[in-house]
This record gives sequence, C-alpha cells and structure tokens, in this order.
Amino acid sequence: MAEAYILGIESSCDETAAAVVRSGEKIVSNVVFSQIATHQPYGGVVPELASREHLRAIVPVVRKALADAGQTYQSVDAIAVTQGPGLAGALLVGISFAKALAFALEKPLIAVNHLEGHIHAVLLEERQKGNHGVDFPVLALVVSGGHTHLYLAREEGPGWVYENIGHTRDDAAGEAFDKVAKLLALGYPGGPIVDKLSLHGNPKAVNFTAPQIKHRDRNETAQIKGRRFDFSYSGIKTAMLRYVETHNLKSTIEARRQAIAKISEPKFEDYLSQCDPQTLDLVASFQRAMVEDLVGRTLAAAEAYDVATLFVTGGVAANNELRQRFEQGAAMQGLPVFFPSRPLSTDNAAMIAAAAYPKFLVRDFAPMDFSAEAGLVLR
Ligand code: KG4
Ligand code: ZN
Repeated sequence: MAEAYILGIESSCDETAAAVVRSGEKIVSNVVFSQIATHQPYGGVVPELASREHLRAIVPVVRKALADAGQTYQSVDAIAVTQGPGLAGALLVGISFAKALAFALEKPLIAVNHLEGHIHAVLLEERQKGNHGVDFPVLALVVSGGHTHLYLAREEGPGWVYENIGHTRDDAAGEAFDKVAKLLALGYPGGPIVDKLSLHGNPKAVNFTAPQIKHRDRNETAQIKGRRFDFSYSGIKTAMLRYVETHNLKSTIEARRQAIAKISEPKFEDYLSQCDPQTLDLVASFQRAMVEDLVGRTLAAAEAYDVATLFVTGGVAANNELRQRFEQGAAMQGLPVFFPSRPLSTDNAAMIAAAAYPKFLVRDFAPMDFSAEAGLVLR
C-alpha cells in the first residue's frame, strides 16, 4: 500500500485542530487549540464565537502541525477536512482553508465525516500499537457533546461502511454532563469535572433511574428495527432540576457560583472545596445513572447483533467510570473493547487524517465545490 502523509483539519465545534498522520497508522503531529476559555463564561459553545476563534487559530495551528511533523505544505500528499456534522459556521472555516490549500498546492482534498473520525481514532491508535487485525462486525458507540450514536461497522474495500442502529432521541450524553454541571455551577465543559468529583460522592445516594424508551412492538425483530437501542437523556436532566428545586439547593449552588467567579482560573480543587457532601453524592449518582444506561444499552446491542468487537469513542469515552464499567461488562460477554487514549477521545485532527487514508487509497476525493453539512449522517 502506498505510504501517504495526510494533513487533517478539524473545526466542527470548539477545537481548532490540525495533524499529520502517516498512512492511517502513525501520528506524526497532533495540534489541538481548545476554545474552552472563550466559551466557559457562557456555560456552552457560542457558535458565532467559535467561528471567530477558528478564524484566528487556523493558520498558526496548521503551521504548527506541519512544523511538528517536519513537513511542509508542499510535502504532504493530501489535505483532509471535517465536512460535518457540526456547527455550520465553524465547519466552514476549516473547509475554506482546506480548499484554498488543496487548490493552491494542487493536492487532493478529502472530506471526512466527524463521527467516522471518532471511530478511526480507535483504529489509528491500535495500528500504532501494532494491532492491525480487527474482528468484524464492530459495534461503535460514539458518545460526545453532540452525539450518542451506535454504529454497526463492517469492512468494504480499504474502508468501512456503517449502519446506525441507535441514537439519542434528545440530548447527547456529553450534553447532559454539560447541562447538569452548568445547573450545579460546576463550570464548562461538565464531563471532566463530574468525572473527578464523582470519586468523592456516593453513587447510590440518589436513585436517578435510567430512561426507559417505549416501543410499540413486542416482537424481537420488530423491536430491533424499531430502534430498541436508542438513548434519551433529557429526562435525567429534568430529574436533576427537580431534585435541586425540591431539596432547596439553589442557594448552595448560587454561593458556589459566586465563590468560583472570584477565582481567575478555577481548578478541580476549587470546585471540590465548594461542594458539600450532598452535592458530591448528587454528582456521583448522576454519573452512575448515565454510565449504567450507556453501558447497559450498548452491551445489549452488542449481544443482539452478535458483534465481534466493541469500540467506545468520543469525548465522553474519556470518562473513567464509563471505561471501567465497559471493561468489566465486555469481559463478562467475552467481547474485546477498545477506547482511544484520552487526548484522542475528544475532538482532534489526527482522527480526521486517519479516516481519510482509506479514501486516499481509492481516490475518493472531494470536489472543490463541496460544502459543510451540519447534519451529515454516517453510512
Ligand atoms: O468529542 P468531543 O470533544 O466534542 C464533540 O464532538 O461533541 O466531546 C466533548 C464532550 C463534552 O460534552 C464533554 O463534557 C464530554 O465530551 N467529556 C466528558 C469527559 N471529558 C469530556 N464526559 C464525561 N467524562 C469525561 N471525562
Ligand atoms: Zn467530536
């Protein structure tokens, strides 16, 4: 197979990222500029600010990725960029820059689905470790701030094809972590802080029940067709809101908000010292409910579809309890489970350059007039 150095560019949400990956199996450089500080005061990503920050960061980030890799604009073999899903204005920054580069340098341009990127983050790192054999079918849970999707994947030529067998009906799992953290004045993004605070609370203190999704059909095959493996996380968010109201936690939350606002760059210890045992129990119980639902539903799908391998990827895959629970549960089912390393779980461009490699091999190049697709689906 031809060796190729692919420059990947990612700008779908709040990270401006560029990376050089060799032949889908070796990260040569990986630069991520996070906009967290910009969005933190708003408790979530503000699309207009994201576009502005991408515009500022894209040139230095790409230059650094090339320099770190010992490559130049001229030496790379192709330019890959995220086409979607994501924020339209944010995606356009990466796409316009990638198009301009490809046009000026006369290099092939490859459009990549962000969700396929998350799946390829796992594959890339396994290949980097020397593990080239993956048994199919693969079940991939892509769980992030924007997605909670289950894909059944199989090989077709050098690439993979996907069937979506479950997705969130409302909030994505990462969104639930972020909204609950915002409600409890625990900063943004919520996932990492909830992950760490949960170690200090009792996960059985509050019984947040996993969401139940109703299905019309009782027949097994019809149930599978009827999206038995969909997720729903808006209920647990509402349950948290109700708990806060009925247990008079608003003043405690407001006191924490004010205390944290006085600290210029609040650290984990600052949040921990501002949380009473009741709040820590609440956070741990929320995380437990989320993890149990994600793991339970995914392992049930793995069994129903008799898959050979499980991938868990996306920002929420960085969660410690989620990883532990998946490892335990998958081991009981005799199922190999793979995660990306933590830096590759959240948004990055190495995963985009890696996902582009099979397309490079079959010359599946994007036309110069391709556009951002905010709601791009993965097939
Ligand atoms: O994949 P990602 O960087 O961006 C999207 O494509 O959405 O995922 C970001 C999401 C955020 O919702 C963040 O709170 C969540 O991933 N996240 C976590 C953890 N680290 C990041 N959620 C739970 N536990 C974590 N350790
Ligand atoms: Zn993502």
